[in-house]
Amino acid sequence: MAWKQGVDLANMVKEAKVWAKSGKVADYIPALAEANPDMLAVAIYQGTDHCFLAGNVEEKFTLQSISKVLSLVLVLMDLGEDVVFSKVGMEPTGDPFNSIAKLETNKPSKPLNPMINAGALAVTNMIQGSTTEERLHRLLRLVHQLTGNEKITFNEYVANSELETAYLNRSLAYFMKQHGVVEGDIEELLDLYTKQCAIEMNCMDLARIGYVLAHEGCDPITAKRIIPLHIARIVKTFMVTCGMYNASGEFAIRVGIPAKSGVSGGILGAIPHRSGIGIYSPALDEKGNSLAGIKLLEVMAERYQLSIF
Ligand code: DON
Repeated sequence: MAWKQGVDLANMVKEAKVWAKSGKVADYIPALAEANPDMLAVAIYQGTDHCFLAGNVEEKFTLQSISKVLSLVLVLMDLGEDVVFSKVGMEPTGDPFNSIAKLETNKPSKPLNPMINAGALAVTNMIQGSTTEERLHRLLRLVHQLTGNEKITFNEYVANSELETAYLNRSLAYFMKQHGVVEGDIEELLDLYTKQCAIEMNCMDLARIGYVLAHEGCDPITAKRIIPLHIARIVKTFMVTCGMYNASGEFAIRVGIPAKSGVSGGILGAIPHRSGIGIYSPALDEKGNSLAGIKLLEVMAERYQLSIF
């Protein structure tokens, strides 16, 4: 695969990078507070001979909420839409990603969508397997297929750091257990969820995932279908409506592509029938999205006419 330094892209990275100074790295997961806020990296994957990158592209980062897209794919493939959407809804919230508020006010209590933490915990609870190791292994296998990179694993240090401090996610999970949305041992669920969030890669791997999603779940390079078409469509739709949390509406107007962010500063983008995008810049805005990453996507969207709308 021939990755090339994009000259144009390097200029856009330079322009967007100044924004990183106004952001703040996530610190509610202590290990994430150690990230260098000056990093900005982008990779655009458009087929083996058309891959462009710029910035700190070798830098690895954990997926955090981007992993919610992958766990959703896996449970939809395992259990089908009817089962999955009996536990989690399809509507955007307009609330922060870790909000507990609507779990109580919605009757029956059910997380509104799989991209917020409550919904993602319910999804992870549905990953099939007899042990946490087996469930995680199945998720990692999907990641290996999507990226073509079998070396990808999870960062134990980041996973432990989150597990030790995940009081809010524990509250969400116990609340949902009370209401029959999740079942089983909550500590085991938290263990799997934090490992899932700590799956680690660089922006080139992430762009490769975006490329497969952009091609409806089929990898055009190997001609293999990895995700059934209807499931690829479902997750891309969630990326448009809920992928940037309570900034999804503004992002749809300013950038206009299916995308998913994580508090590590990663952003996954999929431009239908065209390309996959991987971005990393850990300084976040107040809604928990990568500040320079979004600015870069805005510039790219304008320059390359990326909006699907
Ligand atoms: O559950 C959490 O809080 C983190 N592991 C993931 C949250 C996240 O990435 C939100 N994204 N912007």
